[in-house]
Amino acid sequence: MNILILGGGGREHALAWAVMQNPKCDKLIVAPGNAGIAAIADCASLNTEDGSAVLDFVQENAIDFVIIGPEAPLAAGVADVLRAANILVFGPSQAAAQLEASKRFTKEICDAAGAPTAGYAHFTQADAARAYIREQGAPIVVKADGLAAGKGVIVAMDEKTALDAIDDMFGGAFGGAGAEVVIEEFMDGEEASFFILVDGEDILPIGTAQDHKRVGEGDTGLNTGGMGAYSPAPVLTAEIQSAVLDDIIRPTVAEMARRGMPYQGVLYAGLMIKDGQARLVEYNVRFGDPECQVLMMRLGAQAFDLLHAAAEGRLAEAQANWADDHAMTVVMAANGYPGSYEKGSIIGGLDDLPEDSINMVFHAGTSQADGKIVAAGGRVLNVTARGASLQQARDRAYAMVDGIDWPEGFCRRDIGWRAL
Ligand code: AMP
Ligand code: GLY
Repeated sequence: MNILILGGGGREHALAWAVMQNPKCDKLIVAPGNAGIAAIADCASLNTEDGSAVLDFVQENAIDFVIIGPEAPLAAGVADVLRAANILVFGPSQAAAQLEASKRFTKEICDAAGAPTAGYAHFTQADAARAYIREQGAPIVVKADGLAAGKGVIVAMDEKTALDAIDDMFGGAFGGAGAEVVIEEFMDGEEASFFILVDGEDILPIGTAQDHKRVGEGDTGLNTGGMGAYSPAPVLTAEIQSAVLDDIIRPTVAEMARRGMPYQGVLYAGLMIKDGQARLVEYNVRFGDPECQVLMMRLGAQAFDLLHAAAEGRLAEAQANWADDHAMTVVMAANGYPGSYEKGSIIGGLDDLPEDSINMVFHAGTSQADGKIVAAGGRVLNVTARGASLQQARDRAYAMVDGIDWPEGFCRRDIGWRAL
């Protein structure tokens, strides 16, 4: 099969790595890709949010199957354009992608499905939103309705922070995403992520993970896209997973089908766990980044068969084979991230690191210059390892980190602390 993956981060490098190991893959192109992906697949430049440009590319390159990595092409309806032309694609329609693109939509689906989540109200007028916050009191959570690159959620521990967030959102700080605001009950507990493949009707859970969103050790400092992750997430016990599938995931999938917008792709459920009960924080309609890296490390080549089965509506007969193992990824970021940072510094030592089924450095923001790998983004490398225990996976990952010569970058040294 000829396969196209859309995206160019660590998530897509991990997907490409898994796909390439599967004998069913004859040719793999990744658009736009990055320097790490270029070492294992062809990279192409393409406007990945333009459905007709993607369709032209698919037809010119005789692509049989398209895997969409990030949310932006999904929210832009790229999967719809491809499906209308009978191209096999992994990823939800634009309508179904509202599960990530609209907080209000997700809340309505939860209501209809009876899925446990935080209580909420939604507003299009600042005055009414302020009155609601004063009535409810803090802590309280204020969310811009639309996609805001992970920055549209304010967890306000006091009323003033919540009221300021309302001023910012209705003042246009999040553009169109903030024209409508969802205000939610604050949920206390431990967060974890659950990844479930969905083919419109049937589901297949493919793993749990936890990430570290804050830039600083001990989970302090500014929020980031994620500084590291590990799988499995011990807080999501088998019992909780089964309750989440029954009470949240299956009813959501059924409600989406009932509305004529069946969900196909990966459903990434962000969950809050307290006293053995899970509630939904949010859905994403794609793999997490860097959570995908640890899932792919654990699944290996079979990941391709599972994604393919989801796209073809064959999940009822699919099965994921799990080793009793653990994986961890440590994100190396450019000094200054998530604030301003420099690009172009040279990263050394990568050639001497092992690259096999238990050790992989996935590239996020990298490019190649004069035959050298250089930093080209904020999050730059995802140093990933597998082990019989989380401790072993962690030791292997940090051993690789120590072999990387990049004074202009940093990482957290405490990834996995909560689980260890
Ligand atoms: P979201 O983009 O909805 O995932 O929100 C980003 C982060 O904000 C989540 O990962 C949680 O850490 C936090 N968060 C969102 N909603 C709530 C809530 N209702 N209660 C507590 N924390 C929340
Ligand atoms: N790592 C969080 C996310 O991908 O949304």
